[in-house]
Formats: sequence, C-alpha cells, structure tokens
Amino acid sequence: MSCRVVVLLSGRGSNFRAIAEAGLPIEIAAVISNRPQAAGLDYARERGIPAVPLDHTAHPDREAFDALLAEEIDYHQPDLVVLAGYLRILSPAFIARFEGRLLNIHPSLLPMFPGLKTHERALAEGVKVHGCTVHFVTADLDHGPIVIQAAVPVRADDTPDALAARVLQQEHRIYPQAIRWFAEGRLEIHHGRVNLKDDLTSQSVLSTGT
Ligand code: GRF
Repeated sequence: MSCRVVVLLSGRGSNFRAIAEAGLPIEIAAVISNRPQAAGLDYARERGIPAVPLDHTAHPDREAFDALLAEEIDYHQPDLVVLAGYLRILSPAFIARFEGRLLNIHPSLLPMFPGLKTHERALAEGVKVHGCTVHFVTADLDHGPIVIQAAVPVRADDTPDALAARVLQQEHRIYPQAIRWFAEGRLEIHHGRVNLKDDLTSQSVLSTGT
C-alpha cells in the first residue's frame, strides 16, 4: 500500500510540484492551502489531486483554525503531512497531533538561520556555504530532527534572489528524497536525531554547481 501524503502550502508550490513529479511511491491525498489563491492549488487541480482552500483569515483564533485544519487533514487519512511553503506558525496542539509524521523544508542549513529572510541573513553574515534542510517538525520552531540537508556555495556577487534560486534547486532534490525515505519506512528518530535504516547513503548533498 502506498504512503498517503497530505501537502500544506500557502503560495507558488514549487516544492509540491517537485514532489508530485518525482515518481515517489506515494499517493498525494490532498493539498490544503490557508490562502485560497495559492498557485499550488491550481497545480493540484491540474493533476486531479483534491485541492482544499481553507482561508485562515476567516478564523481569527489560531487554535480554532488549526483544529479545523487538523480535522480536514485527518479526513484524508495521511501517513505523512508535508509542509511545502506553509507560511503560518502551527499551534503546539497541532504539532503534537502529527508529531513524527510532519515534515518541513527550511531554506537554510539549520540550526543556522531559523525563521524568516534566511538568504538575506546568510549574505549579511558573510557565510560561504548556505543551503536547505528537511526536518521533522517539533514544538521548537525550525529545530526538529534533521532528515537531509543540501549545501550550496555563496558567491561574492550573490543577491538574496540569486542565492534563493540556487537553494531552491536543491530543495527540489532533497524534499522528494526525504519523502521517499519516509515512504519506505527508513527514517528512525532516536534521541532527536534521524537515522537512515539499512543504508549508508549520505544524508547530505553538496552542490558545487551553479
Ligand atoms: C521555500 O523556499 C521553502 O524552503 C520555504 O518556503 C518556500 C516555498 O516555496 N519553506 P514553494 O512554494 O515550494 O515554491
């Protein structure tokens, strides 16, 4: 039986697209967006995947909205919930409900640069290597167990947009990889660290390219 996945997003959905096109042993049961106009929903419709707009602005209270969101997710009975550019903080109750089957991608090499504007901050700090991280979500924002990371070189003439584009290419590689491992039952969380079962495959991608 293939792994059922629900995707949460808020915007353009390029990571969702990369996941949907990667030929993974999964069934994307639904795509849910807190922003009804998200381009990611249009792409889901194109592929015949149930696309669910759930407008958070209609629910001023975060806990109430997250409870509704959790109900909608449960309706689709996923094995895994994937945050793919979901731009809202999740309440502790929501995270507790899905802990261990909730993945996120963050555009930095965590634990460096949690939070927003990661590319600007990386350039301001003068780091020479930047990247992205797929991790399990825990109550500790952007600090959950790390599944896989990809690194890209920072160039002397980089702008936040140029760097973001290079990092995004790597996001599109590592998110499908992480989901494949999950679907194959190969991710084991032990003392806050993720081990890859039965394999010596590296959980890092080093990009030297442009
Ligand atoms: C990506 O940069 C991801 O790392 C961050 O939000 C962005 C989503 O982009 N969490 P997209 O909607 O998948 O194109």
